[in-house]
Amino acid sequence: MTDPCTVLLVDDSIDNLSLLRTILEDAGLRVVEAISGHLALDWFEQGVLPDLILLDVHMPVMDGYETCRRLKADVRTRDVPVIFISASGDEADRAAAFDAGGVDYVGKPFCLDEVVGRVRAHAHIFRSRRNLARMVEERTRALAESEAHLRRLSEFLLHVREEDRRHFARELHDELGQSLTALRIDFNALAADLGVPGDKAATRLAGIDAMLNDTVDSVRRICEDLRPGMLDDLGLEAALASYARRFSRQYGIACDLSLSREDFGLDEPMSTAIFRIVQESLTNIARHAEARHAMVALEERGDRLLLTIADDGRGLPAEADEARTRLGIVGMRERVRLLGGNVSIDSSPGRGTHVEVSLPKFHGEPL
Ligand SMILES: Nc1ncnc2c1ncn2[C@@H]1O[C@H](COP(=O)(O)OP(=O)(O)OP(=O)(O)O)[C@@H](O)[C@H]1O
Ligand SMILES: [Mg+2]
Repeated sequence: MTDPCTVLLVDDSIDNLSLLRTILEDAGLRVVEAISGHLALDWFEQGVLPDLILLDVHMPVMDGYETCRRLKADVRTRDVPVIFISASGDEADRAAAFDAGGVDYVGKPFCLDEVVGRVRAHAHIFRSRRNLARMVEERTRALAESEAHLRRLSEFLLHVREEDRRHFARELHDELGQSLTALRIDFNALAADLGVPGDKAATRLAGIDAMLNDTVDSVRRICEDLRPGMLDDLGLEAALASYARRFSRQYGIACDLSLSREDFGLDEPMSTAIFRIVQESLTNIARHAEARHAMVALEERGDRLLLTIADDGRGLPAEADEARTRLGIVGMRERVRLLGGNVSIDSSPGRGTHVEVSLPKFHGEPL
């Protein structure tokens, strides 16, 4: 069952108070009363918050208007609706009542049903608004909490993913890489022992040698794609330079790299994020842009880093193709969001794509 609405009656006439109390209580409302404006304000000091105030206009010492003005000036009470009651009921009185912040006005002698009706309607509106405000507050808090959880989760997932890639790259390099090297040494020794082979055997030996070399190259490339060793050993700047060179060689697209400093002195999460963003953007250029030139630039602007990746290709398609799940740009935005930065992508058909990432140089602690 819902709580009955509470009405604060403020009137200097005991008779009026008692009459109003009777009709409101008969209508199922809870009533508290005060015989002056000051005593009404005292109720609020004691923490009583009614759903409505029925306020007499003409009272000694502090009249209803002044009482209402004070209520409206206090954040704790300003939203509680005030209905004025007055014996005179002339137009100036009514206007002054609304001016002081009242929501309604009832003239004496009252039509009792009308008073109850108005009180109920305004108290109901006030309650609904208050409940709505509470709901919005709760939902906003829940939303903020779930956003914080999601943020921690994506931070964690990115971290785990990077760690896994680093681990696989190391395993591949150490296990498979070592075995292949040993195999190649054995093979070369065996080929030397065989002396000068016949034509057929020589062709087969050369084929095996080429296959071994290709496999070593593939393992090295897969390791690099998983986690560029340079990023850990020589830092972001060297890793970017090496990646840009490899990109040009592999796809035949010229790639200019411009770094405003030799060493930006960035921490591991920031270096990894920048490297992965460049990697995703250049991969997009190779896959989608049909470009001839690409450009990567990293520079400091005050306490921010500005990363730009641009191409002279065909630009982003006007309409997003929803049929496929595309995660490259989404992932890029997420990385940047976690570091407190922002991404803007500027593109027009036939005029290339321009990805600009702005990151604060100093960010919060990673997980
Ligand atoms: N440099 C670019 N030039 C032209 N189109 C691009 C460029 N970069 C992205 N796009 C377009 O934007 C789309 C979304 O890119 P996004 O990287 O998010 O996904 P994707 O590359 O298709 O797939 P993946 O999830 O494997 O990255 C691409 O499918 C492509 O149509
Ligand atoms: Mg992509």
